Amino acid sequence: MAVITIASHKGGVGKSTLAFHLAGVLALLDSSDGQVLVIDGDENRSVLGWAGKNESGNLPFEVVTLATQAKWFQTGNRAKHIIIDTQARPSRDDLKEIAGDSDLLIIPTPPQSLSIDTLPLFLDDLRSLGVITPYTFLLTLVDARSKDAEAARAYLTSMNEPLLEGKMRLFSAFQKAADQGVLVRDARAETGKRDKNAGVAWGDCMDVGKEVWEILEQMKESTCG
Ligand SMILES: Nc1ncnc2c1ncn2[C@@H]1O[C@H](COP(=O)(O)OP(=O)(O)OP(=O)(O)O)[C@@H](O)[C@H]1O
Ligand SMILES: [Mg+2]
Repeated sequence: MAVITIASHKGGVGKSTLAFHLAGVLALLDSSDGQVLVIDGDENRSVLGWAGKNESGNLPFEVVTLATQAKWFQTGNRAKHIIIDTQARPSRDDLKEIAGDSDLLIIPTPPQSLSIDTLPLFLDDLRSLGVITPYTFLLTLVDARSKDAEAARAYLTSMNEPLLEGKMRLFSAFQKAADQGVLVRDARAETGKRDKNAGVAWGDCMDVGKEVWEILEQMKESTCG
């Protein structure tokens, strides 16, 4: 079982969207026993709210809050992966506790220079707290028409910071998926038909999810070996 925390120093960077879809992808990739669990650690309760809107009951993961997680485990449920969504700008104590207890920390980051400029502060926080959890950045809200993502990738590489190859591009299908409580692959347009970008948006999620899955597998191998 792996615990993956999604955290960032900024709000609105796609943390909850990532938590929701990474949970969906990992549930599909991992056929072992147990469930993928999202712990919604944000007071906004975005992920819990989105899952609550799902009418078809086809979400392949479950969502609890920090307060209800104990009950979930007490009633005999078993998690094969846990994804923790956090609120923006977590306090130093929260960051230390949540990130410190995780196997992997993912830091979603839109490529715009402003967020990139403030990253070192977040990393300094992590380091000054003694958090040694492996982490990686992920580019989110990527506008495919702009060169921002390439610049951000070059910047992070020059800083020797880990960055996932995959990225989450900007698609209004993600917003629709959130409104409809479904994974983006099932997002519908106003006409009721499947959103025209649902497939490519889901492809981004699959790419990111597979990469994370590979990282988890490598971590397992290095622990066992
Ligand atoms: N790749 C994307 N393309 C288009 N819209 C997106 C994408 N990712 C997220 N969004 C939308 O942007 C908004 C913010 O996303 P989200 O709630 O995931 O960010 P967050 O980092 O969790 O925010 P907060 O810090 O407030 O918790 C939401 O309305 C979401 O539907
Ligand atoms: Mg959120």
